[in-house]
Amino acid sequence: MKILIIGGDGYLGWPTAMFLAKKKYQVFLTDNFSKRKIESENGIKPLQPIETLSNRVYTWNNLGKKKGYGKIRLISGDILNQRFLNKLLKNVKPDHIIHYGEQPSAPYSMMGREQAVYSQYNNIIGSLNLLFGVKGICPKSHIIKLGSMGIYGTPNIDIEEGYLKLKHKGRFDKVLFPMKPHSFYHLSKAADSLNLDFVCRVWGLKATDLHQGVVYGVNTKETIMNNNLVTSFHYDHIFGTVLNRFMVQAVCGSPLTIYGSGNQKRTFLNINDTLKCIELAIKKPAKYGEYKVRNQFTEVFDINELAQLVEVSAKELGIKVKIKKIKNPRTELSKHYYKPSNKSFLEIGLKPVYLNKKFIKETILYIQKYKVNIDKKILDPKIKWKN
Ligand SMILES: NC(=O)c1ccc[n+]([C@@H]2O[C@H](COP(=O)([O-])OP(=O)(O)OC[C@H]3O[C@@H](n4cnc5c(N)ncnc54)[C@H](O)[C@@H]3O)[C@@H](O)[C@H]2O)c1
Repeated sequence: MKILIIGGDGYLGWPTAMFLAKKKYQVFLTDNFSKRKIESENGIKPLQPIETLSNRVYTWNNLGKKKGYGKIRLISGDILNQRFLNKLLKNVKPDHIIHYGEQPSAPYSMMGREQAVYSQYNNIIGSLNLLFGVKGICPKSHIIKLGSMGIYGTPNIDIEEGYLKLKHKGRFDKVLFPMKPHSFYHLSKAADSLNLDFVCRVWGLKATDLHQGVVYGVNTKETIMNNNLVTSFHYDHIFGTVLNRFMVQAVCGSPLTIYGSGNQKRTFLNINDTLKCIELAIKKPAKYGEYKVRNQFTEVFDINELAQLVEVSAKELGIKVKIKKIKNPRTELSKHYYKPSNKSFLEIGLKPVYLNKKFIKETILYIQKYKVNIDKKILDPKIKWKN
């Protein structure tokens, strides 16, 4: 089975490539390295240096040959370039396309007009190019698109998986779940979802939209095989997620800074569960003409709970941490109802890995190994939702 991964140099794309290659899927990767460009333009580096993608692929293929794993093939390029993308689809004719290749940072998209336009252009037009490419060249390919739980916002009703059954003035219908995105980045995901739904209805393509929560963790069975195979750990104000930031703050003796009240609730999952979900989405694809939505997360936490978990875990390692509330740079509800569904993956066999003190302690020890690389200047939020 042939799998094309778009965004194969990324935090999730690279571990996914190795995970699937090990299972003997034929894996093809593409990336335009725009994440690395944004990092260097903003003075950001992941905690542990990351090899070039060609060296990662070379290392994997060498190691894999000895162990009998599948090979990974790299064809670098930009999906904004339709000619490149069409040629890639023609050459690979993938059974499944895993589309990770977008600008993934909400704060980056809120930096200013230029970054908002870039995020929406790159994400929406890149995905649109993919839809046209698939329609013209490989309409049997199943598109697995990474979306975000952030498209739903924090509505005052339970969040379903993609659709809502509605009764209005005595009549019934099933509609796409209302979207109230948190940022220009999340708005790009909402637009992608509408386009995906449209092409499934109108052209008969098949697509699965994975509305994913915040992913944590760096170690998978494959990333730990060799130092060249690691994936990125970001703790900065642009790509870093709240849990990573708290653990780094604990290691460098800074207070864990909570934005606002800390009552904001969000969805989370371990990187190993992302990999399992991707394989489940491959094994249980959408049908022709179907736009399937799965909410991809395993747990809900509020920010105070995460800070407390890091505090008690750090204490068990002999590290004393302080927690400090700071003014929220984002515009978001400080207290709200939040009950999203994640039945879809559980029903098809996902056995989640839950967040616990053991994981936090192991990650703190990993961070300590690279403590000299921590740049405190990139920790504090510099981007405001509203100036
Ligand atoms: N990491 C998370 O917690 C998380 C949560 C929810 C959703 N997602 C989504 O999952 C996907 C992967 O996330 P990630 O954290 O691995 O992000 P990432 O930035 O590490 O990876 C995305 C990769 O796509 C590449 N890319 C971007 N635009 C491209 C283009 N036009 N052509 C080719 N390649 C391009 C980038 O260079 C990068 O290597 C993203 O779509 C993101 O929005 C991630």
